[in-house]
This record gives sequence, C-alpha cells and structure tokens, in this order.
Amino acid sequence: MQVSVQAPANWRSHEMLRSFNFVSTSTPGFTILRSSNKSSSNRRIKTNSPSPMATLSTVPTDKEVESTQKINPPLQVAKRLEKFKTTIFTQMSMLAIKHGAINLGQGFPNFDGPEFVKEAAIRAIREGKNQYARGYGVPDLNSAVAARFSKDTGLVVDPEKEVTVTSGCTEAIVATMLGLINPGDEVIVFAPFYDSYEASLSMAGATIKSITLRPPNFSVPINELKAAVSENTRAILMNTPHNPTGKMFNVEELNAIASLCIENDVLVFSDEVYDKLAFEANHISIASLPGMYERTVTMNSLGKTFSLTGWKIGWAIAPPHLTWGVRQAHSFITFATSTPMQWAAAEALRTPDSYYEELKRDYMAKKAILVEGLNAVGFTVYPSSGTYFVVVDHTPFGLENDVAFCEYLIKEVGVVAIPTSVFYLNPEDGKNLVRFTFCKDEKTLRDAVALMKERLRRR
Ligand SMILES: Cc1ncc(COP(=O)(O)O)c(C=O)c1O
Repeated sequence: MQVSVQAPANWRSHEMLRSFNFVSTSTPGFTILRSSNKSSSNRRIKTNSPSPMATLSTVPTDKEVESTQKINPPLQVAKRLEKFKTTIFTQMSMLAIKHGAINLGQGFPNFDGPEFVKEAAIRAIREGKNQYARGYGVPDLNSAVAARFSKDTGLVVDPEKEVTVTSGCTEAIVATMLGLINPGDEVIVFAPFYDSYEASLSMAGATIKSITLRPPNFSVPINELKAAVSENTRAILMNTPHNPTGKMFNVEELNAIASLCIENDVLVFSDEVYDKLAFEANHISIASLPGMYERTVTMNSLGKTFSLTGWKIGWAIAPPHLTWGVRQAHSFITFATSTPMQWAAAEALRTPDSYYEELKRDYMAKKAILVEGLNAVGFTVYPSSGTYFVVVDHTPFGLENDVAFCEYLIKEVGVVAIPTSVFYLNPEDGKNLVRFTFCKDEKTLRDAVALMKERLRRR
C-alpha cells in the first residue's frame, strides 16, 4: 500500500525524526510528496534515491529536493519553517546504511522498555481505554506526574490545574512556545541546543538570542547572559541535564538565572527530559528555587527514563496562569494524547525508586565503556554529568570539521556520531565537536570502540 508523506520541514538532528524507520511504506526509488498547494494533487515522483533510503526516511535528500524542484509543483513550505532544510542527517543516515555502520548517533535506546509498563499498556487497550482522553491528561497520569514532581522537587502542584499531558516533550515545548510567546518576543537559548527549540520558536515568531556554552565545562557565561536580557526578553529556554553536552546546570548557575528572571520579569522554560539520567550531580529543577515556580514551565516526558521513546507521552508543569496558555495551544495542536499509553505511563511513574537506581547503574556501566574507549582512541572527551550523551573534540584526527569527521567515521571506521554544528545558531561554534550516545547495549558500545581503536588514526 502506498502512503502519502510530507517531508518534515526540519531534518536536522531531531532524535525522533532520526529514529524514523518506514520499513514498508514506500516503493523503492519513489518518494511521495504532497504539495501544500490545495490545487495540486499528490503525485508520485521518481527520485534517484537508492532503495535503502526509501526504508529509512520520508525526508528528501538535497539531490531529491533539487530533482523534484525541476518538476512542477516545487516543494512548498511556509516562511516560518523555510530555513529548516539542512539534510545532513539524511546524508549521515544514508551513509550509515550504505556502510553498515554502528549507530552511536541516534538518541534512542536499542533495547526495550520495562515489561511492567508494556503490560500496563496492553491491559489498558484490552480494558477498552481507547477513546479520546481528556484533553489535558488522563486524571491518573496527571496525579502521577504531580506526585513524582512533588517527590523530586518538594513542590506540591495541583494535578488538575498545573499539569498538562502532551504528546512527548516535543509537544510540550511547542505548546509552551505557541501558548506563551508573542511574535517579536525575545527568547534566550543556550547553544548547543536541542533542535526542535529553534523550529518551535520560529513557529511562534520569537526572536532567538543564543548564548554559547563552551567546552570544557560548558558553563553558563553569566555576564553574557545578563547582557542578552532586554526589555523584550520574554523567556529563557534551558535544558538540564543538557543534550548534547551532558552538562548539568549547577546551583550557582541556576541561582544566577533565577535572579535575572525575577529582576527582569522573565519566564523560564525548562526541559528536563533527562532528569533521571543524572550521574555525577543531583538534578535541580529551577522551578524549585525561591520565587521561580510562578514563572517556570517544567517540561518532561516518559521516553528517556523508561526507554520508550516511541510512546511520546510528555507533560508540562506550570502554575495555573501559565498552564492556561500551554493548554490553549495544546488543545489545538493535538487536543489529547494516546489514552492507553497515558494509563501505562501513570503506572510507570509510580514505580519505586529502585527502578531509577538500576537504570542509573546500567547507564553508568555503559557510559564507562564508551568514555574509556573514546579516551583510549585519542579523543578529548568532555565531562558529561547526565543524559546518555558525551561530546568529544575530534580535531586530533585532522578532519576539517565535525561533518567531515562524521562522514569519515562512518565510511572509514564504521561508526555513526552526530556532528554538533547543527545544534548552534552559528554552526562554526560546533565544528570541533561531535556527539556519541551510550544508550545502546554494551556489546554494541564495545564493538564501536573496537572499530575506532583499530581504524582511527591521529593525523
Ligand atoms: C533535550 C530534549 N528535549 C526533548 C526531547 C524530545 O522528547 P520527546 O521524545 O518526549 O518528545 C529530546 C529527545 O531527544 C531531547 O533530547
């Protein structure tokens, strides 16, 4: 059966997009492109792509874009998403398939989530919990989110008025931007940043100001941050533990951000999807600092902690006056998210602490394999305190930039990493850095390290 697909506008580094695997939906060599122009019909366009591409992704490569643009109608995209068309990840993924490389690029586990959560979803489906959920969340999940937040931060929140369940943290991010940012408002982000931020802010019409976190510690340059805040600053968007660096914002940095926000009446949007993957330091939610809850939206999801990234259950926690905006946007983006998965998510969040302890133990063992391996290979490995990522300096190997290095790594070594330049407003800032993930089974990590030891040579 043929399936019509529309190219996502932003094919850069999105973990979710990179994990697409449309095994049976496309005919080899064909990409089906649907024009947004109402007058034109969907049509099947012959492309030059080799058949593996058709099984990898629905996103056109540069060549495909060029070739389809010679045929009418050309690809169309609204101005707000026009700039998000870099296809580096498509190229990397194609190369990875072609060269049979081990994938330490993609930010999702190659192992499955816990049985008790999967069983809870199956049970919910069998019990007929299959119709639209309440827009802002199945009550049981709202309560479980509030209870976990309270246990983690000491903040007591009203599950009915202050928790909104979304389709993954990605939707929490976009609903927060669309619900609380006006066109022209300035939002400060810390680069490198998770790439959906820029697209979400662009859709909201925000003006983005970026503060670069630099190696080795990726500390917040407080004076630069202070200088960036203006009377138009509406919010600071942050992420701790931080993708891609593994940095965790420390209490001094959080206090400095908090004071700045309170003094200047600025909101904080805090993405904490890796809160349970905090290895070297304790995770601190900025919402828990004095005076901050009332100006913070805390965003999170189930995917990373429960190795169920495909379920896309997320949430936003905020005081009622901010929840109002988030919910207004959410109501018209997805309205509600998958009902049975929400029931299962509630069960997941009520798991005892031993689950998180074991998760951490497992990930620390994986991290040790990768970090020791990368050091032995000759990379400069930067400290990663949380997440399942580690960033290294690739320059000892003599390639001109991160993209060239990653291409070399795939073709000549057989390992996939992610070039970090795509995580910056100014790609130059990331040209020396690449990101590896250790959310893979130990054998995969060992095999990747062995290949790098054998084939990577300093130049
Ligand atoms: C920092 C960050 N935020 C949000 C997300 C997306 O989370 P979800 O899959 O719940 O939408 C990711 C996924 O990689 C991420 O790394």
